[in-house]
Amino acid sequence: MDPTEEHASDGFKLVPHRGFNLINGIHDPAEVDRIHGWDVRDSDVFVITYPKSGTIWMQQILRLIEAKGDIDATREELNSDSVPWIELIGKGKEFEEAPSPRLRVSHLQYKFMPLALSQKKGKVIYVVRNPKDVLVSYFHFHKVATMLETPKDFNDFFEKFMRGDVYGNCWFEHIKMWHSHKDDMNILFITYEEMIQDLQTAVEKISRFLGKQLTRDQLASVVEHSTFRNMKRIPQANYELISGELLDHQKGSFMRKGTIGDWMSHFTVAQNERFDKVFQEEMEGFPLPFIWDIRVKPSSSK
Ligand code: A3P
Repeated sequence: MDPTEEHASDGFKLVPHRGFNLINGIHDPAEVDRIHGWDVRDSDVFVITYPKSGTIWMQQILRLIEAKGDIDATREELNSDSVPWIELIGKGKEFEEAPSPRLRVSHLQYKFMPLALSQKKGKVIYVVRNPKDVLVSYFHFHKVATMLETPKDFNDFFEKFMRGDVYGNCWFEHIKMWHSHKDDMNILFITYEEMIQDLQTAVEKISRFLGKQLTRDQLASVVEHSTFRNMKRIPQANYELISGELLDHQKGSFMRKGTIGDWMSHFTVAQNERFDKVFQEEMEGFPLPFIWDIRVKPSSSK
């Protein structure tokens, strides 16, 4: 794509930068490039996701783990402020000055991330979600997010996603690139689906990875306040307090369905066949399991 080509949207635009689409007005290419040189502390934690894979969920879990399950301690701030995005304008300076532990989230591809991560500094949690549900969630999110172009219809968005013509670019490339560097980093891969199917075990796994020792009651509180039902009721946790300039709350909720398999009510048979073919080609030999249907119990995802 011509790097000067911009995608029209309501005031915001996708702007390709080094093979990755940034959002004009939200990201600054020079600031994004500086992330690579950031100093990383051992206590830093970066949650990496392709959009719509459960970032907000992990923001809530991480800050609750940090607060040892004390929900009242988290009510002062939005989860997007406690666990902010690194790629947003102005966040680099904030990162440098912030006290430890610095808990952060990002949708960036591996190549933009701090080099220090590959020297085993800090920790990374990569949340994987089955890409058919990602696509559906992203389609709906494009209607709510004012910074993203509203799709004409589902088919139009399906094509854009398959071309990687979205923020986050190609889903396949994102996960494969991060996964190919797993041995260089302190990284935990966790799936959205295993979190759905057994949140307690997932939270224990995350706490262990972070070296946090929580009592049974504290862990239970983390789980309780990070369920879909409860997050929907906690304004500081569900993005309903995010500015209307970024999210049009009349057009839908960030916490939409929170399930596995919604793709089945969106994909046509032809779209599904095409997706499966591409998935097989792209993901051949990829070791992580994928769960496409809520009725199927995971076998080796824990
Ligand atoms: P759906 O649109 O399928 O409902 P992200 O934060 O990366 O943008 O991901 C948003 C997706 O995660 C949305 O998916 C949202 O509902 C889901 N989600 C957020 N919190 C969740 C929770 N506690 N349990 C299950 N799903 C959750």
